[in-house]
Amino acid sequence: MARSALLNVMVQAAFKAGKSLARDFGEVQNLQVSLKGPGDYVSQADRKAEKLIRDELLKARPTYGFLGEESEEIKGTDGAHRWIVDPLDGTTNFLHGIPFFASSIALERNGEIVAAVVLNPATDELYTAEKGGGAFLNDRRLRVAARKELSDSVIACGVPHLGRGNHGKFLIELRHVMGEAAGIRRMGAASLDLAYVAAGRFDGYWERDLSAWDMAAGILLVREAGGFVSDLDGGNAMLDAGNVVCGNEYVRKALFEVLHRPVPTR
Ligand code: IPD
Ligand code: CA
Ligand code: CA
Ligand code: CA
Repeated sequence: MARSALLNVMVQAAFKAGKSLARDFGEVQNLQVSLKGPGDYVSQADRKAEKLIRDELLKARPTYGFLGEESEEIKGTDGAHRWIVDPLDGTTNFLHGIPFFASSIALERNGEIVAAVVLNPATDELYTAEKGGGAFLNDRRLRVAARKELSDSVIACGVPHLGRGNHGKFLIELRHVMGEAAGIRRMGAASLDLAYVAAGRFDGYWERDLSAWDMAAGILLVREAGGFVSDLDGGNAMLDAGNVVCGNEYVRKALFEVLHRPVPTR
Protein backbone atom coordinates (compact mmCIF):
# COMPACT_ATOMS: atom_id res chain seq x y z
CA MET A 1 0.00 0.00 0.00
CA ALA A 2 1.68 3.23 -1.19
CA ARG A 3 0.53 6.42 0.52
CA SER A 4 0.84 9.83 -1.13
CA ALA A 5 2.90 12.53 0.60
CA LEU A 6 -0.32 14.32 1.49
CA LEU A 7 -1.88 11.24 3.08
CA ASN A 8 1.33 10.77 5.08
CA VAL A 9 0.97 14.32 6.42
CA MET A 10 -2.59 13.48 7.49
CA VAL A 11 -1.48 10.22 9.15
CA GLN A 12 1.30 12.02 11.05
CA ALA A 13 -1.18 14.65 12.25
CA ALA A 14 -3.58 11.92 13.41
CA PHE A 15 -0.79 10.10 15.27
CA LYS A 16 0.21 13.32 17.08
CA ALA A 17 -3.37 13.89 18.17
CA GLY A 18 -3.73 10.19 18.97
CA LYS A 19 -0.76 10.28 21.39
CA SER A 20 -2.22 13.27 23.17
CA LEU A 21 -5.70 11.67 23.33
CA ALA A 22 -4.30 8.37 24.61
CA ARG A 23 -2.48 10.22 27.43
CA ASP A 24 -5.58 12.21 28.35
CA PHE A 25 -7.78 9.08 28.16
CA GLY A 26 -5.58 7.60 30.91
CA GLU A 27 -6.46 10.45 33.29
CA VAL A 28 -9.80 11.57 32.09
CA GLN A 29 -10.90 12.53 35.62
CA ASN A 30 -8.34 15.39 35.64
CA LEU A 31 -9.56 17.05 32.44
CA GLN A 32 -11.41 20.35 32.35
CA VAL A 33 -14.81 19.70 30.81
CA SER A 34 -17.44 22.21 29.70
CA LEU A 35 -20.86 22.06 28.11
CA LYS A 36 -21.62 23.41 24.63
CA GLY A 37 -25.30 22.60 25.03
CA PRO A 38 -27.43 20.01 26.86
CA GLY A 39 -25.56 16.68 26.89
CA ASP A 40 -22.90 18.09 24.55
CA TYR A 41 -19.48 18.07 26.24
CA VAL A 42 -16.10 19.40 25.17
CA SER A 43 -12.83 18.97 27.02
CA GLN A 44 -9.25 20.18 27.00
CA ALA A 45 -8.45 16.92 25.19
CA ASP A 46 -10.64 17.92 22.20
CA ARG A 47 -8.99 21.36 21.95
CA LYS A 48 -5.43 20.11 22.39
CA ALA A 49 -5.94 17.45 19.70
CA GLU A 50 -7.38 20.00 17.28
CA LYS A 51 -4.43 22.35 17.75
CA LEU A 52 -1.93 19.53 17.14
CA ILE A 53 -3.72 18.49 13.94
CA ARG A 54 -4.24 22.04 12.68
CA ASP A 55 -0.59 23.03 13.27
CA GLU A 56 0.68 19.91 11.50
CA LEU A 57 -1.64 20.25 8.49
CA LEU A 58 -1.15 23.99 8.05
CA LYS A 59 2.63 23.63 8.40
CA ALA A 60 2.57 21.21 5.45
CA ARG A 61 0.03 23.17 3.35
CA PRO A 62 -0.20 26.77 4.66
CA THR A 63 -2.58 27.92 1.91
CA TYR A 64 -5.32 25.33 2.45
CA GLY A 65 -8.53 26.16 4.31
CA PHE A 66 -9.27 24.47 7.63
CA LEU A 67 -12.66 23.53 9.09
CA GLY A 68 -12.42 21.95 12.54
CA GLU A 69 -15.04 21.38 15.22
CA GLU A 70 -13.23 23.30 17.97
CA SER A 71 -11.88 26.43 16.26
CA GLU A 72 -12.82 29.27 13.90
CA GLU A 73 -12.82 28.23 10.26
CA ILE A 74 -9.71 29.35 8.33
CA LYS A 75 -10.64 30.20 4.75
CA GLY A 76 -7.17 29.77 3.18
CA THR A 77 -5.84 31.49 0.09
CA ASP A 78 -6.08 28.30 -1.98
CA GLY A 79 -9.75 28.24 -2.89
CA ALA A 80 -9.66 24.59 -4.00
CA HIS A 81 -8.49 22.75 -0.87
CA ARG A 82 -9.90 22.44 2.61
CA TRP A 83 -9.10 20.21 5.57
CA ILE A 84 -12.16 18.97 7.47
CA VAL A 85 -11.25 17.78 10.96
CA ASP A 86 -12.92 16.29 14.00
CA PRO A 87 -10.09 16.08 16.52
CA LEU A 88 -12.04 13.88 18.94
CA ASP A 89 -15.12 12.20 17.54
CA GLY A 90 -16.92 10.41 20.36
CA THR A 91 -16.24 12.86 23.20
CA THR A 92 -19.01 11.32 25.33
CA ASN A 93 -17.41 7.88 25.02
CA PHE A 94 -13.97 9.34 25.76
CA LEU A 95 -15.15 11.10 28.92
CA HIS A 96 -16.85 7.88 30.12
CA GLY A 97 -13.74 5.75 29.59
CA ILE A 98 -15.27 3.92 26.60
CA PRO A 99 -12.50 3.20 24.05
CA PHE A 100 -14.57 4.04 20.98
CA PHE A 101 -13.43 7.44 19.76
CA ALA A 102 -11.27 8.77 16.93
CA SER A 103 -9.52 11.65 15.25
CA SER A 104 -10.98 12.19 11.80
CA ILE A 105 -9.17 14.12 9.05
CA ALA A 106 -10.44 14.64 5.50
CA LEU A 107 -9.09 16.60 2.57
CA GLU A 108 -11.59 18.21 0.24
CA ARG A 109 -10.56 19.31 -3.27
CA ASN A 110 -13.03 21.41 -5.26
CA GLY A 111 -15.85 20.21 -3.02
CA GLU A 112 -14.94 16.52 -3.30
CA ILE A 113 -13.36 14.45 -0.52
CA VAL A 114 -10.12 12.99 -1.88
CA ALA A 115 -8.24 11.70 1.17
CA ALA A 116 -9.28 10.42 4.58
CA VAL A 117 -7.75 9.31 7.87
CA VAL A 118 -9.63 8.02 10.91
CA LEU A 119 -7.53 6.88 13.89
CA ASN A 120 -8.81 5.20 17.04
CA PRO A 121 -5.79 5.58 19.33
CA ALA A 122 -7.33 3.30 21.98
CA THR A 123 -7.28 0.29 19.63
CA ASP A 124 -4.45 1.40 17.29
CA GLU A 125 -6.77 1.13 14.32
CA LEU A 126 -5.80 3.47 11.51
CA TYR A 127 -8.22 3.77 8.61
CA THR A 128 -6.98 5.51 5.45
CA ALA A 129 -8.30 6.12 1.95
CA GLU A 130 -7.44 8.11 -1.13
CA LYS A 131 -9.84 8.62 -3.98
CA GLY A 132 -9.38 5.80 -6.47
CA GLY A 133 -6.81 4.02 -4.28
CA GLY A 134 -8.98 1.89 -2.00
CA ALA A 135 -9.55 1.97 1.76
CA PHE A 136 -7.29 0.35 4.36
CA LEU A 137 -7.35 -0.64 8.02
CA ASN A 138 -3.68 -0.42 8.96
CA ASP A 139 -2.19 -2.38 6.02
CA ARG A 140 -5.28 -4.43 5.18
CA ARG A 141 -7.43 -3.50 2.19
CA LEU A 142 -11.08 -3.06 3.15
CA ARG A 143 -14.24 -4.24 1.50
CA VAL A 144 -17.81 -3.56 2.66
CA ALA A 145 -19.87 -6.57 3.77
CA ALA A 146 -21.61 -8.63 1.10
CA ARG A 147 -24.93 -9.33 2.88
CA LYS A 148 -27.88 -8.32 0.74
CA GLU A 149 -30.85 -8.67 3.08
CA LEU A 150 -31.67 -6.32 5.93
CA SER A 151 -32.82 -9.36 7.89
CA ASP A 152 -29.14 -10.55 7.92
CA SER A 153 -27.71 -7.08 8.56
CA VAL A 154 -26.35 -5.24 11.58
CA ILE A 155 -27.22 -1.56 11.19
CA ALA A 156 -25.60 1.27 13.15
CA CYS A 157 -27.31 4.56 13.91
CA GLY A 158 -26.95 7.73 15.95
CA VAL A 159 -29.39 9.00 18.57
CA PRO A 160 -30.03 12.76 18.50
CA HIS A 161 -28.46 14.66 21.41
CA LEU A 162 -30.53 15.87 24.32
CA GLY A 163 -32.29 19.03 23.13
CA ARG A 164 -31.11 18.61 19.51
CA GLY A 165 -32.53 16.95 16.42
CA ASN A 166 -35.96 15.49 15.85
CA HIS A 167 -36.41 12.77 18.47
CA GLY A 168 -39.92 11.84 17.23
CA LYS A 169 -38.71 11.29 13.68
CA PHE A 170 -35.76 9.24 14.91
CA LEU A 171 -38.03 6.97 16.96
CA ILE A 172 -40.21 6.30 13.93
CA GLU A 173 -37.16 5.47 11.81
CA LEU A 174 -35.75 3.26 14.55
CA ARG A 175 -39.04 1.40 14.86
CA HIS A 176 -39.09 0.73 11.14
CA VAL A 177 -35.47 -0.47 11.04
CA MET A 178 -36.01 -2.60 14.18
CA GLY A 179 -38.75 -4.42 12.33
CA GLU A 180 -36.39 -5.40 9.50
CA ALA A 181 -32.75 -5.65 10.61
CA ALA A 182 -30.93 -8.51 12.36
CA GLY A 183 -29.43 -6.06 14.88
CA ILE A 184 -29.00 -2.37 15.66
CA ARG A 185 -26.00 -0.62 17.26
CA ARG A 186 -25.43 2.90 18.64
CA MET A 187 -21.69 3.19 19.20
CA GLY A 188 -21.30 6.98 19.58
CA ALA A 189 -18.65 8.08 17.06
CA ALA A 190 -19.88 8.76 13.53
CA SER A 191 -16.42 8.59 11.91
CA LEU A 192 -15.91 5.08 13.32
CA ASP A 193 -19.46 4.02 12.46
CA LEU A 194 -18.59 4.81 8.84
CA ALA A 195 -15.17 3.15 9.16
CA TYR A 196 -16.89 0.01 10.51
CA VAL A 197 -19.15 -0.04 7.44
CA ALA A 198 -16.03 0.23 5.26
CA ALA A 199 -14.50 -2.67 7.22
CA GLY A 200 -17.58 -4.86 6.73
CA ARG A 201 -18.28 -4.94 10.48
CA PHE A 202 -21.54 -3.03 10.11
CA ASP A 203 -23.70 -3.71 7.08
CA GLY A 204 -25.24 -0.25 7.09
CA TYR A 205 -25.49 3.02 9.01
CA TRP A 206 -27.69 6.08 9.07
CA GLU A 207 -27.70 9.26 11.12
CA ARG A 208 -29.17 12.76 11.02
CA ASP A 209 -28.02 16.05 12.58
CA LEU A 210 -24.34 15.47 11.89
CA SER A 211 -21.71 18.06 10.99
CA ALA A 212 -19.31 17.89 8.05
CA TRP A 213 -16.39 16.96 10.34
CA ASP A 214 -18.26 13.91 11.71
CA MET A 215 -18.67 12.38 8.25
CA ALA A 216 -16.18 13.72 5.70
CA ALA A 217 -13.41 11.15 6.18
CA GLY A 218 -15.74 8.22 6.83
CA ILE A 219 -17.70 8.79 3.63
CA LEU A 220 -14.57 8.32 1.51
CA LEU A 221 -13.63 5.20 3.51
CA VAL A 222 -17.01 3.60 2.71
CA ARG A 223 -16.87 4.52 -0.98
CA GLU A 224 -13.30 3.33 -1.41
CA ALA A 225 -14.29 0.04 0.24
CA GLY A 226 -16.90 -0.43 -2.49
CA GLY A 227 -19.85 0.92 -0.51
CA PHE A 228 -22.59 3.38 -1.42
CA VAL A 229 -23.33 6.60 0.48
CA SER A 230 -26.13 9.12 0.09
CA ASP A 231 -27.96 11.75 2.04
CA LEU A 232 -31.50 11.02 3.22
CA ASP A 233 -32.93 12.62 0.08
CA GLY A 234 -30.96 10.15 -2.02
CA GLY A 235 -28.48 12.80 -3.20
CA ASN A 236 -24.80 13.44 -2.66
CA ALA A 237 -25.09 16.48 -0.35
CA MET A 238 -24.32 14.70 2.95
CA LEU A 239 -22.01 17.41 4.31
CA ASP A 240 -24.53 20.19 3.67
CA ALA A 241 -27.61 18.16 4.62
CA GLY A 242 -25.96 16.83 7.80
CA ASN A 243 -27.26 13.32 7.30
CA VAL A 244 -26.07 10.07 5.81
CA VAL A 245 -27.19 6.56 4.89
CA CYS A 246 -24.77 3.91 3.63
CA GLY A 247 -23.96 0.25 3.11
CA ASN A 248 -23.30 -1.91 0.11
CA GLU A 249 -25.48 -1.25 -2.93
CA TYR A 250 -28.31 -3.49 -1.65
CA VAL A 251 -28.28 -2.56 2.03
CA ARG A 252 -28.08 1.21 1.41
CA LYS A 253 -31.08 1.02 -0.88
CA ALA A 254 -33.10 -1.24 1.44
CA LEU A 255 -32.26 0.92 4.47
CA PHE A 256 -33.13 4.10 2.55
CA GLU A 257 -36.54 2.64 1.66
CA VAL A 258 -37.29 1.52 5.21
CA LEU A 259 -36.31 4.97 6.54
CA HIS A 260 -38.81 6.53 4.13
CA ARG A 261 -41.73 4.27 5.02
CA PRO A 262 -44.87 6.23 5.76
CA VAL A 263 -45.51 6.96 9.42
CA PRO A 264 -47.99 4.48 10.91
CA THR A 265 -51.33 6.14 11.66
CA ARG A 266 -51.70 4.32 14.98
C1 IPD B 1 -20.66 13.11 17.95
C2 IPD B 1 -20.50 11.66 17.58
C3 IPD B 1 -21.82 10.92 17.76
C4 IPD B 1 -22.94 11.56 16.99
C5 IPD B 1 -23.06 13.03 17.36
C6 IPD B 1 -21.74 13.74 17.14
P1 IPD B 1 -18.54 14.46 18.91
O1 IPD B 1 -19.47 13.82 17.73
O2 IPD B 1 -20.08 11.49 16.25
O3 IPD B 1 -21.72 9.58 17.36
O4 IPD B 1 -24.13 10.88 17.27
O5 IPD B 1 -24.07 13.63 16.61
O6 IPD B 1 -21.88 15.09 17.49
O7 IPD B 1 -19.27 15.65 19.44
O8 IPD B 1 -18.29 13.40 19.91
O9 IPD B 1 -17.33 14.85 18.13
CA1 CA C 1 -18.52 17.68 19.98
CA1 CA D 1 -18.02 14.39 15.96
CA1 CA E 1 -15.57 16.17 18.18
